[in-house]
Amino acid sequence: MSQRTTKAQMAETIQDMRAWPRREAYVELSAQTRALLEGIDDRVAAMATISSLMHGALGYLWTGFYRVAVPDRLLRVGPYQGSIGCLEITFGKGVCGTAAAERRTVIVDDVLTFEGHITCDPRSRSEIVVPVFGPSRELIAVFDVDSAERAAFTDEDRDGMEQILSWFQNAGQR
Ligand code: SME
Repeated sequence: MSQRTTKAQMAETIQDMRAWPRREAYVELSAQTRALLEGIDDRVAAMATISSLMHGALGYLWTGFYRVAVPDRLLRVGPYQGSIGCLEITFGKGVCGTAAAERRTVIVDDVLTFEGHITCDPRSRSEIVVPVFGPSRELIAVFDVDSAERAAFTDEDRDGMEQILSWFQNAGQR
């Protein structure tokens, strides 16, 4: 955590990082995530906190998690911020199901060109989905962020989000 922001201040106000250089924003978000989740080993609490922090700081349309409900078969919505998300997604379907099945981050610059894209919010234009792994490198969820802008996400977002989500590999046993 930067010395500028205490945990108590974070609870009151999430910094607006929309105009920040991406790399700096993710350094700060990673530090804030670790500070906020210190002493916590509950995955749902962590997912809710990360969704709120990232949504507030980066201001995209939808920010949140789909959890693995049935391994290699079914994702079910978890903590998120934004408009109502689809409740369940089959592995291999849409951007989330593709990232889950292939266990890799998927960036889609224009969802209109992604065959099988699942439209939860018609305003969504680009999307990033990052796999979330537990301590044994097992897939536990995917993290999905949707933007109204075309090509909103780059490799910097992938690197920053993967770094923040590595928290689940080191904690969150429940
Ligand atoms: N667009 C996603 C579905 C989830 S939501 O947009 C919240 C997809 O194609 O996987």
